[in-house]
Formats: sequence, structure tokens, C-alpha cells
Amino acid sequence: MPETIPKGLTRLAFGGDYNPEQWPESVWHEDVRLMREAGVTMVSVGIFSWALLEPSPGEYAFGWLDRLLDLLHAHGIRADLGTPTVAPPAWFYRAQPEALPVAADGTRYEFGSRGAICHSNADYREAAAAITTRLATRYADHPALAMWHVHNEYGVPVSACYCESCAAHFRRWLRATYETVDAVNEAWGTAFWGQRYADFNQINPPRVTPTVGNPAQALDYKRFADATLRENFVAERDILHRLSPGVPVTTNFMTALSQCDSIDYWAWGSEVDLVTNDHYLITDGRRTHVNLAMAADLTRSVAGGAPWLLLEHSTSGINWQPRNPAKAPGQMARNSLAHVARGSEGALFFQWRQSRRGAEKFHSAMLPHGGTDTRVWREVVELGASVDSLSEIRGTRTVADAAVLWDWQSWWAQNLQWRPSEDHDARERADAFYEALYDRHLTVDFAHPEADLSAYPLVVVPALYLMTQAAGRNLTEYVENGGTLVVSYFSGIVDEHDAVHDGAYPGPLRDVLGLTVEEFSPLLPGDRVRIAGPEGSELTGDVWTEFVVPRGADTVWTFADGLAAGRPAITRHRLGEGSAWYVATRLASDGLDAVLGWAADDARIAPRAELPRDVEAVRRTGESGTYLFVINHTSSDAKVPLEAHGTELLTGDRAAGRLAVPAGAVRVVRLDG
Ligand code: GLA
Ligand code: ZN
Repeated sequence: MPETIPKGLTRLAFGGDYNPEQWPESVWHEDVRLMREAGVTMVSVGIFSWALLEPSPGEYAFGWLDRLLDLLHAHGIRADLGTPTVAPPAWFYRAQPEALPVAADGTRYEFGSRGAICHSNADYREAAAAITTRLATRYADHPALAMWHVHNEYGVPVSACYCESCAAHFRRWLRATYETVDAVNEAWGTAFWGQRYADFNQINPPRVTPTVGNPAQALDYKRFADATLRENFVAERDILHRLSPGVPVTTNFMTALSQCDSIDYWAWGSEVDLVTNDHYLITDGRRTHVNLAMAADLTRSVAGGAPWLLLEHSTSGINWQPRNPAKAPGQMARNSLAHVARGSEGALFFQWRQSRRGAEKFHSAMLPHGGTDTRVWREVVELGASVDSLSEIRGTRTVADAAVLWDWQSWWAQNLQWRPSEDHDARERADAFYEALYDRHLTVDFAHPEADLSAYPLVVVPALYLMTQAAGRNLTEYVENGGTLVVSYFSGIVDEHDAVHDGAYPGPLRDVLGLTVEEFSPLLPGDRVRIAGPEGSELTGDVWTEFVVPRGADTVWTFADGLAAGRPAITRHRLGEGSAWYVATRLASDGLDAVLGWAADDARIAPRAELPRDVEAVRRTGESGTYLFVINHTSSDAKVPLEAHGTELLTGDRAAGRLAVPAGAVRVVRLDG
């Protein structure tokens, strides 16, 4: 079994990406001194260092990295050592111009940024293996080495390449997956529009076509591109496992970033020894701490519930969104500790010292341009002490109350062209349902539609357009055995090849929901429908309506206007020991809360009315005890009832009765018992 805990790390991880190659060595000494002052326990190094480690083909310059690792070790700082394969040197591309990736329209990307890689390119693969082998051989036994950081954020900035090597590789992948070209024809439905292939050699990547291309081909290309990235990760990982046994290998994910939808992290979670994640606040006007909680919950779920590690976030503003606000005082600590509450074994940042040059010089850092006499630095030092005082929670696991189903492949399929409405956005529904659960103070695990759900009293399916028959059976059994299910519209429509399930919609969900859907009737922009429900209650929907025919389900809310007027809008089907709810329109937050309230009653989940909005309460539990994290995202002081006495770890105070959590503060109570 590979090691899953950073070697030699005895505290929670605290630190960041450290790119000392941007500075003269004299600065390194100041760096390590300040790292100690801030309580840094681990830094990530060498991620982009290929051109410095191998200045010309076969000529290596490891001296600086030797000195750096020795210096870190001398100061008791552990190293997360990168393989620099996300940034091959300029000389490599001069020799191998075909290693540069090609966009779907045929444009070949240039050198001069990062991540310009055709992952099918044999010369790239060979060169990546060679530099990884060199590094592993040289540093396997270095006393500073805590873990290996392969590559960087697979899938961005280029998730798929459309060049000739990729075309050949795609054909190999298709042969291995389907065996015969007729099986491809069948799966892709090439009878439509005369797309039939007589031989694998006639198949290309889904490059730019005059009008919409074959959707199943596009979906398979996503799978192929993801599998190709994974092949390259696994190749590096296996070299590291062989040459550097006992040291965990990771690559940093970006689980919840909607711009990075190209990776099927369910498949990656079991390939890494330790799941690590990067998270940046998306400032689009929504509550950023909800997006953060979702990212952390999703990352933990990808890790199978095991502890994971936040490898990058920001101390303050970032620099790649249209507008990049600074973090408010205290927000960095709330962000970091919210990740820890949801399973992270520490908090690391991009990056240690803010760059003076290059593309990311306006991205905040632990040590800002302004140096140590700055608010950010003072907060970093304070956070370092807080993280240190939480070390006993290592190895404990976050406790979830409900599950949300999540499937990247369904998302890929849903995002293809020519759907009933471009206003329906599966990710938007996932975010909205997550937010409604968050506002009910429920901690959420994400689960694959075919995963064992028996541990959850409540399971929500926000919008899973692609769903297999096996997933449908899984949900049916879940409800029969007493579970409560909530399903949103446009779920269970197609199979794994984007082919509509046989018979009425929603194929695999008809039995569990006790209904069929005859037709979809999306709304025009700005249009709304009223929905009439129990005791005169009224909700509104937009974006979507459809014609639902109950076949066993009870109608709880009915469309009051629009084309679906008089038909069911929200239904409930009692099946076996459980119940399944169906929502046939896009509800706003009040509607989602109403439906989830009913479903939570079915699931016998008691309301957490004692917790104010935006006061987050999450538990971690394990051998060392049970820890209650309370994070006050509001500008008012809060008081939260405790079910047991305990010790607050950040202040050292005893806690009993009602726990006071000042505005913007975090408290972590080890409960007695
Ligand atoms: C990503 C990368 C880092 C850095 C940060 C900040 O997460 O991994 O190298 O670019 O974003 O932008
Ligand atoms: Zn390619």
C-alpha cells in the first residue's frame, strides 16, 4: 500500500508554493527565517523548474535544488517536490514542435506560457519520464522530501488536443474500447446524417464542423482526453513509486472549478495516494464561502471521505478574474479553516513570496510585495498559529448529513450543443441545490450515481442528464430501502452514449419517481410560471416546464400557468420504505428550501433552526475525538448551542452551554466524552 500521509509531517500542513528560482539565493535565507516565523510546515517546490534543472538537453543543474532542499530541511520545513512536466523548456519545443497542442480549429499553440502540451506526443512522454526518473533518483532519500507533486492541474489550460498524434491515439482508444468499428457506429448513432465509418482509420477527433458534430463522438473524445491525461499521470506516479517508495504521490486537482470540467475526478481519486485540491474564490456576486464549502465537500468525496489536503488557495486577491477584490480582514482564516473543517489536513497557498515579474505578479501571496509590515503578513502569522493549534485533528473525518449526486461525464454530455434550452445549466442546478442544503446547515457528501448510498437519509439529484440503467436501479433500491430522494428535471434522459433511453422519459428513473414525462417545454428568457401547492402556498419557476404524467406519484405542487398549467410541478412517490420527490421546473432558493424541507421531514432530519444563516457548523470525528468547527461568516456575533462541554482549541478556553463565536471568527471545540 502506498503511503498516504506526507512523510515526516507531524503537524497539519501550512505553507505554499515556493518558487525561489525567481530570487537570488541570498533571499532564500530570509524566506526560511520568515517561514519559521509564520509556522510554515511544508512548501511545494520545483513545479515549473524544468528549464532550470535541465538548461539544455541532457545537461542537468541540480545544485540549486540540492541547496534549497538542504536549507528547508535545516529549518524543519518539509518539501512537496514537483515534477516539472507541465512546463517543458524552450529547447524541447525547438526540437519537438509537434509536442505543442492543437485546438479544435487547427491552431497550434505557441511556447511562452505554460501547459502547452500534447499529451499523446511520444517525445513529450519520453522526456517527462526522463526528468521524473532523474528527480526521483536524486531526491528519493532526501530528508526534506515529504511528497511528490506530479505536473500541475491536469486539464488546464488545455484539456484536449486535436492534432494528428491525438487522432491516432484516439483511434487506438476506440479500438480498445469498442473492438469493432460497427460497435462505434452503433454507439455513436452514425446512421444519422450519414456519418457511418467503414474503418477506424476514417475517424478523426471532433474538429470544427460546419454545423453540430456527432454528440457521442464529442463525449467519447472528452473521455479519451481525460484518460490520456491520466495515462501520463500514472506513468510518472509509477516511476516515483518504484524509485521513491514510502513517499506519497499526488497531483493537484481543481474539483469544483466550472472552467475545469474536463477531468473525471471520480476516476482520478483512486489513482493518487493523497487527494489534493486547489481552490480560488470565484467572485461572481454569489456567496463565496458556499462555493468554497462545495469545493471542499466535493474534494473529500473524491477522496472517498478520507482526509485530503488543500494545496493552493489565496491569501487575498487573485489576478485572473475580470475583477479581483482583496479578502476582507479575517476572511483568509475563515476560508482556510473551512477547508480544514471539511477534511483538509492543513492549508497551503499559491504562493509564498509574491512575484515581481511574470504573469502572476498581482496574485496575492503569504509574503506580499509590501513585506512583513502588512495586514496580509500579520494574518498569515496568526493563521499559522491557529493551524498549529489544531494538529490533533489529523486523521479525523468530516461527518456528512446528506448526499448530492455528481457525475462529470453527465455534465460533459449535458453541455453539448442542441439541447431543449441553453438556459438550463446542470452546474447551476448543482450549485443551487447545494446552497439550499448549506442554508439548512446540512453537510453534504457528493456521490457517483452508482455508488452505495445506504448511509444517507437524503440524496439529491440536481440535474443528471446522463444516467445509466444501473444508476436508476441503484436509486430505486435506495428508496425502496427507506431513503429519501429528490430529483430535478432533465435527469435520466440519455445513456452513456448520449442516446435517449428507450421508452418514455426519464428512462431509468420512471419506476422510482412513479411518473413519466411526455414533453419538455422550456420557457423563454424572463418568463416565469406560478406553482400552486399545499395550504395555498405558491412558488415560481423559470427556465423549464414539462408535461409530467403521474404513474403512482402524488402531485404536491401544480403548474398554475404556462403550457403545463394544471399538470404536476412537484411530485412525491412513496415506494417501499422511502419516498422520491420530483421537481419539474427551475425553482429559486425559496422553492428549493420548501421541497428540501418536506424531503428532510421524510428523511427524519431535524431542522437546525438554532444556527443563524451563514454560521457554518461542521464536525470532524475520529480516534482523537469529535471536533465541532463553527465559522461565523456574518458581521454579527453568534451564539451556538453545544450538546456537550468541550475545549476550544484556538483560544484554549473551556466551552459549555452556548458557544460565543464573534463576528467573522472561527471556533473549534473538542467535545468531551
Ligand atoms: C493555479 C496554479 C498556480 C497558480 C495559481 C494562481 O492554481 O496551480 O500555479 O497559477 O493557480 O493563479
Ligand atoms: Zn495532440
